[in-house]
Amino acid sequence: GAAVAELVAGRVLDVPDFPKPGIMFKDLMPLFADGAVFREVVDGIVAHHGRESFDVVVGIEARGFVVAAAIAYATGVGVVPVRKAGKLPRATHSASYALEYGEATLEVHQDAFTAGHRVLVVDDVLATGGTAEATLDLVERAGGTVAGFTVLMELAFLGGRERLAPRPVHALLTV
Ligand code: PRP
Ligand code: MG
Repeated sequence: GAAVAELVAGRVLDVPDFPKPGIMFKDLMPLFADGAVFREVVDGIVAHHGRESFDVVVGIEARGFVVAAAIAYATGVGVVPVRKAGKLPRATHSASYALEYGEATLEVHQDAFTAGHRVLVVDDVLATGGTAEATLDLVERAGGTVAGFTVLMELAFLGGRERLAPRPVHALLTV
């Protein structure tokens, strides 16, 4: 609830002009580095979704990995990586998208999911929604069922939530 949102708001650092001029980078590394806050945040995400609502967690390279692995460990489910192009060793599905800055391709192993498994997709920040849209597409193409998409922070002015609609988005903090 509001208390967890305040924890996130109190730990995010705004970094101007990174990685390009005009971009305000939202750095959540100070949050990850604070053990008590990180635990509160992970527990808040699990409490929102309910530990019975998903069978596996997907983390999006790279910052999503940190949160996804913690949620997986806390709930006793497995974690599946969605990775940037060229990193996964076996047959993949891939999806390209335009990012707030630049362009990228994400991949997932074709055999990553057991049919019918409910997948909670996790990232640190929702900005334009390109990363999330590509990832949700990959999960479905690989046979998973999207149980939810959850982030620590949503930048509402960039319209990611509308882009992903009608799929629900959960953010601990919306700015
Ligand atoms: C950042 C952030 C999200 C994504 C959000 O990742 O961690 O994954 O951008 O942007 P979008 O909603 O506009 O797609 P980035 O691509 O910078 O890579 P990283 O996680 O490896 O640092
Ligand atoms: Mg990222």
